[in-house]
Formats: sequence, C-alpha cells, structure tokens
Amino acid sequence: MAFHITKAVIPAAGLGTRFLPATKAMPKEMLPVVDKPAIQYVVEEAVAAGLNDVLMITGRNKNALENHFDRMTELEATLEKKGDVDRLQNVQYSNDLADMHYVRQGDPLGLGHAVLRASMHVGHEPFAVLLGDDLIDARDVLLARMLEEQSTRNASVIALMEVDPALTHMYGIATVEATDDDDVVRIKGLVEKPVPGTAASNLAIIGRYVLQPDVFGVLASTKPGKGGEIQLTDALQTMATQNIAGGVFGVIFRGRRYDTGDRLDYIKSIVQLAVERDDLGADLRPWLKQFAATLD
Ligand code: G1P
Repeated sequence: MAFHITKAVIPAAGLGTRFLPATKAMPKEMLPVVDKPAIQYVVEEAVAAGLNDVLMITGRNKNALENHFDRMTELEATLEKKGDVDRLQNVQYSNDLADMHYVRQGDPLGLGHAVLRASMHVGHEPFAVLLGDDLIDARDVLLARMLEEQSTRNASVIALMEVDPALTHMYGIATVEATDDDDVVRIKGLVEKPVPGTAASNLAIIGRYVLQPDVFGVLASTKPGKGGEIQLTDALQTMATQNIAGGVFGVIFRGRRYDTGDRLDYIKSIVQLAVERDDLGADLRPWLKQFAATLD
C-alpha cells in the first residue's frame, strides 16, 4: 500500500567554513538569498510538496534556525504598533510554516550520520531528505514527482541532474539504466565524489532524496567513506546493488537549480533570483546590463 509521506529531514549541521567569517557566529543556512534565509526556501519547498513535518539536524551555533521558525514577539508587536502589515506578515509567515522539530547531530561524522540521527523521529515510514545548499526553483516540479515515483515503485528515489563533466568530482555520481519513463532511471551504482576523470557518467545527485526507512539500518552499518565520513551515497549504493527495499531510482531534473554552497554560486543564485522578483527585477535588470557592459 502506498504510504502518504509527511516527513522531511533537513541536515543543517555543517560548519559553513566556505563562508567564514560570515558564518563564525551564524549558521550558513541563515545567509540571505535576496531577503530570505536559504533554509526558508528549503522548508517552503517541503511544505509545498505536502511535507509539513520537518526535522532539522542541527549542531552547535544553530539557535538562529530555531528562532527563525518561531515567534519573535517583540518584533511582531513593534511592527503591529506601526501598522506595518506587509513586514508583519513577512515575519509571521515562517512562524507556522511547518511543524518543526530539531535534533542535534553531535559528532560531525558526515551526511549519512546526520540522516541516521533522524531514525527515531521518522520511524518506519518513507521520508524525504532535502539538502540546504541546493535550491530548486519553486516554479519547477521535483519533489512532488519524486514522491509520486516513490509511491508507485515502492523504492527509494534520488534526484539527478546532468552536470558539466569537469565538475563530477564535486557530487555523488550515478550509473543508470533506462526505464519506461523518460525522466526516471534505475540506479545501478553510485560513487561519492569520484576522482576527476573517473566518473561513470555526468548524472549527479542533487540534494533531494525520498527514502525507504530501511536506509537507517544500512547507514548504521556503513563504514566511513570519502573524507572519512559516513556517506549517504554509500548507503544508497548498497541499497541499489543489493536491491534493498525495492532498490533505488533516479528522477532526472531538468529545471532550475541554484547552488548556494560556495561563494561564487551563492552570488549567482542571488542575482538570478533577484532579477525575476516583481519588487526588484525592474530596477535590477537595466542596472545589471549597464554594469556588465562596463566589465570588458
Ligand atoms: C552532498 C552529497 C553528494 C551530492 C551533493 C549535492 O555533498 O554527499 O552526493 O551530490 O550533496 O549537493 P556535499 O555537497 O554536501 O559535500
């Protein structure tokens, strides 16, 4: 029987070293993408796909995340007194966006270890994992499609995207076999961040997963891999090759993805999203053209 998935797990325990000193006292997930913290886009995406139960795997220095998804009584009262309805609504929007839960990762032993920390909360249901560094454009469908495939195939499903072959060493890379669906493939193998020149394809895992709960048992016996960390990719490789709980399928995403994980991509993401905003685009676009013309 198909299970109605309601739980999303968002690992947010990374140290954000690529953004120091900005992330010295603030979690990288709170960095603004235009005027919203990156993490809010991810929670909104989960909720839009019907996943209202959100568990964040956090760490030290992450109190701001909990505060962001809670009431800010004093600020709200001030805005209310001023009659600043728009800003008040903006501030209140994230208060009740989702049913938020938090667990700390403890030791930073890798993404697989972070996901394993969700096992008590998730229990025996399929669930989604969303990585905060990847933002998926709200106008393009990905998670809903993955949930649909998880339910019809009763298997685990990961999101894949074609990347520049020169960048395969930055991702988990899949070996795949076609299915009858043009956007769905069966996963034959996965390698976490292959050495340059050795990747089996240019199909990269982007940070969206819909997983069978059996992944927890597999993670618990997964040895440290790339970088000495327990890798989610390695557990999924085991599930794919041993056909555990229906094996693993990939949904190929051809929409707009914004990478906020490193500084250059983060800047590009902000510009791309800002030019399309109703309140900023009209002024930003002509300025950007003028500015670009001065660069040569
Ligand atoms: C993680 C995963 C990797 C995946 C990537 C997508 O790596 O381990 O398989 O391709 O996310 O963003 P990270 O970028 O967190 O090192």
